[in-house]
Amino acid sequence: MRLVAGNWKMNGTSDLARELAAGLAERVAASAPACSVVICPPAPLLGLAQASAAGRVALGGQDCSDEAGPGAFTGEVSARMLADAGCGYVIVGHSERRQRHGEESALVQAKAARALEAGLVPIICVGETLAQREAGQAVEVVSTQVRESLPEAAAAQTVVLAYEPVWAIGSGLTATLADIAEIHRAVGAVLGPIRARTAILYGGSVKPANAREILTTEGVDGALVGGASLKLDDFWGIVAAA
Ligand code: PGA
Repeated sequence: MRLVAGNWKMNGTSDLARELAAGLAERVAASAPACSVVICPPAPLLGLAQASAAGRVALGGQDCSDEAGPGAFTGEVSARMLADAGCGYVIVGHSERRQRHGEESALVQAKAARALEAGLVPIICVGETLAQREAGQAVEVVSTQVRESLPEAAAAQTVVLAYEPVWAIGSGLTATLADIAEIHRAVGAVLGPIRARTAILYGGSVKPANAREILTTEGVDGALVGGASLKLDDFWGIVAAA
């Protein structure tokens, strides 16, 4: 499975959601891209994005609760609610949540398990910091994150992994192709028997200009795109390169 997912983060209002989702739907209908296309708008824009995407672009949440709910969990959105809102995917363990909200891999694993229970495909994010890379620990850190974040049910259900070096996110820096291939191999080794049916995405400053070389790197099955997913032409340029 090849997949390009746009993570809008905390960006966008109704106008942008309508414009991006409808614009992508039109282009998908006109040219049937070789990969699945997913957009992950902020939760309040999901309904609008779904209506505008007209079934041609898949939807994802940016996070979900580790609680199945329903219940007294103020501010949380459950995986079931995302499924009910039309999502097929949900990002879990993004580094912005691991760092800003102190999310550890055990919590990420619980969220991924909830996603699978709700029939969603979790996009499980992993990645090393610059200090960890400079200390030569990237492979070990990422392998451990994958091992600890992967829910048991992944043996039988579909998950997606996303390797996003923390220092490459939103910075304009990207890992070298050799480094990307090395980490994707390491992630694949942890996945073992499910590797063949599991997409491993690369994320971190992916743009139309670098998309082709990254997306044709060994072991790269797609991209998780932040900044460039907010501009229709840029995101489409990446989809077209996949
Ligand atoms: P970026 O973000 O493409 O803006 O670097 C990627 C991500 O955080 O998923």
